[in-house]
Amino acid sequence: MMRTGVITGLGSALPDKVLTNADLEQIADTNDAWIVERTGIRERRVGGMTSVLSVEAGRRAIEQSGVDPATIDLLVLATTTPDQLVPATASVVQHQLGLRCGAFDVNAACSGFTYGMVAAQGMIAMGLGTVLVIGCDTLSRITDYTARDTGILFADGAGAVVIEAREVEGPERPGLLGWDLGSDGAAAPILYADIGGTLQMEGREVFRRAVRVMVDSARRAMAMAGVTAEDIALVVPHQANIRIIESAMGKLELPMEKASLNIDRVGNTSSASIPMALDEAVADGRVKAGDLVLLVGFGAGMTWASALLRWDGA
Ligand code: ACO
Repeated sequence: MMRTGVITGLGSALPDKVLTNADLEQIADTNDAWIVERTGIRERRVGGMTSVLSVEAGRRAIEQSGVDPATIDLLVLATTTPDQLVPATASVVQHQLGLRCGAFDVNAACSGFTYGMVAAQGMIAMGLGTVLVIGCDTLSRITDYTARDTGILFADGAGAVVIEAREVEGPERPGLLGWDLGSDGAAAPILYADIGGTLQMEGREVFRRAVRVMVDSARRAMAMAGVTAEDIALVVPHQANIRIIESAMGKLELPMEKASLNIDRVGNTSSASIPMALDEAVADGRVKAGDLVLLVGFGAGMTWASALLRWDGA
């Protein structure tokens, strides 16, 4: 028998305000046709606050799992846009959700949620029973929507999962089967925001590297799990640009039908993108017990992270 964590509840949250490509046409030198063709994005949500969206998504995940909030042993909040520099937004969220446990923020940009998931699995292996992992970003606070290179991409959202410990065995065991975490700080200057500033990006360079690190990271997680692309039922990629996803999926020989996509409606929500797209796929009945699900993210840092899960139907 081995101890692993399985996802028992998911939740998402978005701010109400919709920013369409037509809205951006009014303030930046861009147009709907270009944005859709080059990024796959049609609209995005803006105006959120990280603690508020995190609490909403976290509450939904807790409700779906049915766990008593008082029994949650740890809160991990992946965010690159905390409410304040100090304290960690995880502490604010923990209090508002009525949790009595450790809480910390993880900043690994768009890889943050997957970093948090893998860290949570490690804590479960060390004995914790239930961990809430939230990915939330309010990039609208650090995005200049008049800048056509970044303003077309970035937005707000939150996604959350409850992970519960299980004792499992055998080759078909559920839980985390393979993972990969990485960072290359030499690439930090290609995507950054200074404190008090807005996101600055070398788009073509980010694009080029993103495809490579997604493919390499996904392959490492699959190799650790001893599975191949054919075995994967669902891929949940970071939603940065539809063309990055198409290129990486092609190189991995994974058909696009296996990807969960929400970029057209929510844009790039950084830490929230993977848990929101996973929540949507599960809600749509696209994941069944025993399925292999591959999460793969990349982002500023550059960071990258993959997690290969076997879905638990219980
Ligand atoms: N609207 C209209 N035209 C535009 C726009 C725009 N917003 N931006 C550029 N153009 C024009 C350019 O002037 C250029 O015209 P030209 O050919 O006449 O010179 C043409 O479109 C192509 O410009 P490129 O900069 O080469 O456009 P590209 O295809 O690279 O797309 C983009 C730009 C969308 C930013 C792309 O490079 C990209 O998605 N990069 C990755 C970004 C990303 O994923 N960032 C997030 C990483 S995750 C994280 O950590 C947050």
